[in-house]
Amino acid sequence: MTKQKIIIDTDPGVDDAIAIMLLAKTESIDIQAITTVAGNSSIQNTTANAEYLKDLLSLNCPIYSGATESLTGPFIEGQVHGVTGLTGITHSFQGNLTNNAAEKIIEIVNTFPNEITVLCLGPQTNLAQAIQKDPTLPSKIKQIVIMGGAIQSPGNKSWVAEFNIFLDPEAAANVFNTPTPKVLVPLEICYKTPLFVTDLKQMTDDSKLKPILTSLVMPYIKLLSQFEGVDGAIIYDALAAYYLVNPASFTTKELEIKIETKGEFTRGMSVADLRTWGEKNPNTTVATALNRDLFIQDLLSSLSK
Ligand code: RIB
Ligand code: CA
Repeated sequence: MTKQKIIIDTDPGVDDAIAIMLLAKTESIDIQAITTVAGNSSIQNTTANAEYLKDLLSLNCPIYSGATESLTGPFIEGQVHGVTGLTGITHSFQGNLTNNAAEKIIEIVNTFPNEITVLCLGPQTNLAQAIQKDPTLPSKIKQIVIMGGAIQSPGNKSWVAEFNIFLDPEAAANVFNTPTPKVLVPLEICYKTPLFVTDLKQMTDDSKLKPILTSLVMPYIKLLSQFEGVDGAIIYDALAAYYLVNPASFTTKELEIKIETKGEFTRGMSVADLRTWGEKNPNTTVATALNRDLFIQDLLSSLSK
């Protein structure tokens, strides 16, 4: 079987962690590298959390740390993943900051031209910096799969903006302006696909990850309810990861998307042309639906391995 070579760009993050677990357990996926970015927590914490996950999942891919702030200034920090970014879990990994994520994305894509999928699970600063440093990169990336944006949904970080894009709108605009095939997994389908603690009963009792998932999900549900008013664990990044595992299970639509970088009230908004008339210049495959029960069953079956 030809494996799908991927780079996971991430700010672990409870849902990032579940995404990485799924990909680690999927035979058809070849993780070339994990690149970290600040967002859900500091770069120190997100990188340390990535090291914890690499050890937990016996991954042999390298971890390269990246952006500590957005293209235009400091990041605001996330709240729903706890202070360390992995609420509910304590570990002793410290985070080795190599600060070379952009350079390594360039190196890996140039080593495997037209073979690499970049999975963006945090602010897209690392990928944007890579593209700024090597403008030929977009023509050599196979596809970019992004968890982010809100097309038919209010934002989760402002009235209209989703967290990953809100943290670095300029980076997202740079990425969306490339000709590289892009897939967007936006807020609306994530909200329709919550994970509940009761779902974890589907996991076999001898599953190594079951107690860890339970420790992660329970406090995450409480924080999401407090800060985002939602019910259940919205495992945003796991849906984006699942697109790499089972793309046929998603309903999608081709849309043209622009990222607002100037609006006083709309900065970070993913603006889509939803008109049913006029000239169309779609630049993104947008996921519009996913069968929740199938996804959760598939996810937990994989994590039970
Ligand atoms: O808006 C949800 C996104 O922001 C997810 O990637 C979550 O991990 C946070 O990074
Ligand atoms: Ca994330």
